[in-house]
Amino acid sequence: MAFSFSSRACVLVLLLGLCVGVPALAAAGRIDDGLEVTWGNGRGSVSPDGQVLTLSLDHTSGSGFRCKDTYLFARVDLQIKLIPNNSAGTVTTCYFMSEGPWEVHDEIDLEFLGNVTGQPYTLHTNVFANGTGGKEQQFHLWFDPTTDFHTYSIEWTEQHVVVLVDGTPIREFKNHAGQGVPYPSSQRMRLYGSLWDAEDWATQGGLVKTDWSQAPFVAQYRNFTAADASPAAAVGSGYGQAMDATAQQAMKWARDNYMVYDYCTDTKRFPQGYPPECYMA
Ligand SMILES: *[C@@H]1O[C@H](CO)[C@@H](O)[C@H](O)[C@H]1NC(C)=O
Ligand SMILES: *[C@@H]1O[C@H](CO)[C@@H](O)[C@H](O)[C@H]1NC(C)=O
Ligand SMILES: *[C@@H]1O[C@H](CO)[C@@H](O)[C@H](O)[C@H]1NC(C)=O
Ligand SMILES: *[C@@H]1O[C@H](CO)[C@@H](O)[C@H](O)[C@H]1NC(C)=O
Repeated sequence: MAFSFSSRACVLVLLLGLCVGVPALAAAGRIDDGLEVTWGNGRGSVSPDGQVLTLSLDHTSGSGFRCKDTYLFARVDLQIKLIPNNSAGTVTTCYFMSEGPWEVHDEIDLEFLGNVTGQPYTLHTNVFANGTGGKEQQFHLWFDPTTDFHTYSIEWTEQHVVVLVDGTPIREFKNHAGQGVPYPSSQRMRLYGSLWDAEDWATQGGLVKTDWSQAPFVAQYRNFTAADASPAAAVGSGYGQAMDATAQQAMKWARDNYMVYDYCTDTKRFPQGYPPECYMA
């Protein structure tokens, strides 16, 4: 009896061990567990070991992927290695977007605008809520984003949207819905990624065109993680209600040194005064 009991217990422990092991394996698993290539006619692909998703762009087409799940508040982390050398005219993206009617859609954008060899990429960010965007902020990076993978994150909660680069917050867009500023909080969104050509505007305002002799252009993505960040989520992520003093200080450093455009200081664009959230703490 005793023997039979302990061997059953052993089987139980083994099964439990396996069950507990599964989520851990999935988290460190294949990138196509969470993402699927959706367009580009073969220009997007996942490496056989499932670790790297590659997007490419040539004169005929770019390519893209999407996240299999939708979220209403999430924290996503994704490592990206951008196109090396002359990437002028190209745009590599990673963005959240809702699926409803365009006129009232929500969106959180990270777009990496390429540049000629030796000149910095621009990370363009924007937030759309209920169909209205126009909240652009742009950054240069404090490293060369083409020589290695770096982690880009979006923390989208009921309180704020925070964009992070290698764990350093560079932008916080707070929920001021109570003061009449639209905030993405009522529509589920999905994460998308893409690589496409925008030579008419992307680089130095469209002055520098894409050098197609360098094609195909290739960007790589790996280590995608997404966590539910809804108020009901048992596992909290990131900053929770508000950024602490250390995070504020890190963000100030990034903004003081690397922000190259802020709609909230663009007097030419807003001669009559900036949008209301620019005046809110
Ligand atoms: C691209 O840049 C790498 C180093 O960043 C260099 O080794 C390589 O030769 C360059 N390729 C071209 C086509 O310029
Ligand atoms: C969203 O925009 C539409 C008009 O496009 C407006 O009727 C509606 O009240 C807005 N909703 C919110 C929550 O602001
Ligand atoms: C490209 O390099 C120029 C010159 O350094 C810089 O002004 C610009 O912000 C860079 N990025 C883009 C997208 O043009
Ligand atoms: C993968 O991403 C997770 C979460 O962002 C991070 O903790 C981990 O260090 C990353 N792994 C690698 C190999 O960079």
